[in-house]
Amino acid sequence: MTETSRAGTEQRIELEHVEQRFHARGTADGFMTAVDDASFSLTSDPPRVVSLVGQSGSGKSTIARNILGLQKPTGGRITFNGRDIFSLSRTERDEYRRNVQPVFQDPYAIFNPIYRVDRVLWKAAKAFGLAKTRAAADELFEESLSAVRLDPGRVLGRYPHQLSGGQRQRVMLARVHMLRPAFIIADEPVSMLDAQVRKLFLDILLDFKQQYQMTTLFITHDLSTVYYLGGDVMVITKGEIVERGPVATVMHEPSHPYTQLLLDSVPRPDPDQRWTDRITV
Ligand SMILES: Nc1ncnc2c1ncn2[C@@H]1O[C@H](COP(=O)(O)OP(=O)(O)OP(=O)(O)O)[C@@H](O)[C@H]1O
Ligand SMILES: [Mg+2]
Repeated sequence: MTETSRAGTEQRIELEHVEQRFHARGTADGFMTAVDDASFSLTSDPPRVVSLVGQSGSGKSTIARNILGLQKPTGGRITFNGRDIFSLSRTERDEYRRNVQPVFQDPYAIFNPIYRVDRVLWKAAKAFGLAKTRAAADELFEESLSAVRLDPGRVLGRYPHQLSGGQRQRVMLARVHMLRPAFIIADEPVSMLDAQVRKLFLDILLDFKQQYQMTTLFITHDLSTVYYLGGDVMVITKGEIVERGPVATVMHEPSHPYTQLLLDSVPRPDPDQRWTDRITV
């Protein structure tokens, strides 16, 4: 497959005053606001990593679902290259789907346990017309699996439960590698991985940015991954983006008290301090 370069053809996702309200019991008006007036853009040229960080329930996944077109916001607008993503023509929608690829926390949920993992790759290759023959597809799978540092011989032909969580997650990255989207929407993709596999995953994302000009919206509650990825960060609390900017600036000079609170809650190991409290469960 030829390498794609997006230089000069900027792709753009724009959120304008996005609001997502849900029915909720026990509130004054019977609604809760999961996303409150969110405005930001993701652009592909130059490619960037933009992290969205906030605690549980702050509205991060809701924003991801809005962008992926899985949930239509109750207010505001999301556009792709200027067109509302909820009123795209069929061709435009296909282009959007190809260009905006999700990676979720638990890849096991995406695999059907009764099929071999190849099927996830095969379905993508078929849906987007990437390979005409089985032989061409196999070549493509091997290339993409190798790009995410998996040994094709040890992955193809296996069932999902025969792979580790980190391997399954990288098969999803291989799928992304095949499709070469302009944008990756990654919702807590490394939360269930151990430190070593987590670093590998993040390094692959950074490779994708560098080599294929992919821009990632990286959703997490973990500031250390934000720090590792660099780029820009947006801090969200109670549905509201309260701070944004380059990672180094936001981390070193937080201007919003909530960001300070997030920073303060990162445990820093202190070898001189032994833990004396008992843990009770
Ligand atoms: N379909 C829905 N119906 C009703 N309420 C919802 C729905 N989806 C999300 N919510 C509520 O919206 C709020 C934000 O949820 P969301 O899943 O976006 O949070 P999050 O930041 O992704 O949290 P976590 O870090 O735990 O994944 C929560 O209070 C949640 O209960
Ligand atoms: Mg979530």
